[in-house]
Amino acid sequence: MEANGLPSRTSILTAAARAFGSRESDSSVRNPDWVADRLIGPEELALITEHPISKALDLPFDEAINDPDIFGFAWLMLVRTRFIDEHLERAVRNGARQVVILGAGFDTRAHRFAELLKGLPVIEIDYGTTQDYKKQRVEAALGGAPSNLVYVSVDFARESLGDVLRRAGHRDDEKTFYICEGVSMYVPEEGMRGTLRTVAAQSAPGSSLLLEYMNRSGIEFSQQYPMGVVKNALDWGEPFVFGVPDGQDREFFLETGLELGETLKMGSPESVQRYAMRADGTYYGAHLAKVFQERREAMEKALTDEIRQKMAQATLAGYWLAELKVPERVS
Ligand SMILES: C[S@@+](CC[C@H](N)C(=O)[O-])C[C@H]1O[C@@H](n2cnc3c(N)ncnc32)[C@H](O)[C@@H]1O
Repeated sequence: MEANGLPSRTSILTAAARAFGSRESDSSVRNPDWVADRLIGPEELALITEHPISKALDLPFDEAINDPDIFGFAWLMLVRTRFIDEHLERAVRNGARQVVILGAGFDTRAHRFAELLKGLPVIEIDYGTTQDYKKQRVEAALGGAPSNLVYVSVDFARESLGDVLRRAGHRDDEKTFYICEGVSMYVPEEGMRGTLRTVAAQSAPGSSLLLEYMNRSGIEFSQQYPMGVVKNALDWGEPFVFGVPDGQDREFFLETGLELGETLKMGSPESVQRYAMRADGTYYGAHLAKVFQERREAMEKALTDEIRQKMAQATLAGYWLAELKVPERVS
């Protein structure tokens, strides 16, 4: 995506889905990212026309929410925005003095949490092209960024996060809260391991990283049978390449120096219960239950046993939001 001079289109896609979700009238299932709705305009939507979310912001909300692809993506963003927001607030309450957002794209937390983060450096890290585009958009749509926000560019696959953090004035003797949302699947394994190792080695004990990741069988399945958003990402030059080995999550992270803390499996009953229930006790998406059921059945029928098995394995392995902790150092 760097090579084509365009910003990461998946970063626009996720922000557009949050913008859409922020228009929900029921506050119990509303995406808190109201700033995304100001950042994503017609020019941004023109870059993601292959996904129906590009039309959603121009349609009446109650009509667009009936499209299963629009709803499904908005649902995903609802759960992940809320989970990560909650962890950010908790980390700052527990003494984090810096926030680093890896692969920030159109992340708006520096803006939405301006009051909470006052006086704390917020470092946004991304490819230069995506970052330059975002900076211009922030200027045009929001009139600028909070003074504590620092932008630094990186290619996680080729550069050391350590150098980048030093350039940004990051202090390794202060607790840091890191966010890596919707990024790990795009970064080759060595780059991802290096990034995690740097977080472990160059952050004060008590620091933590909120990581969204998939397991390897899910990545392999999506590479063999790219569908939906994964297919869009592939066509835009942002293929899924990395997944944590199935069933070895804890060991994998420990090897980089990080301890696995709280996890949330996307799509699990717990994720629904915590983040996607309406105030009236019904779950968000109940209106599409029949449509999703029919889709599942049609797909089941169309698949061979082998593909069905691989899909089941990928679903079982999972797609996660996880807290990774920098342990106390034993001297
Ligand atoms: C799906 S977007 C997620 C953006 C944002 N975190 C969010 O959740 O909306 C993936 C982001 O990862 C960034 N990214 C992917 N690979 C990268 C790499 N090797 N180096 C730096 N940034 C990368 C992209 O530029 C993009 O902003």
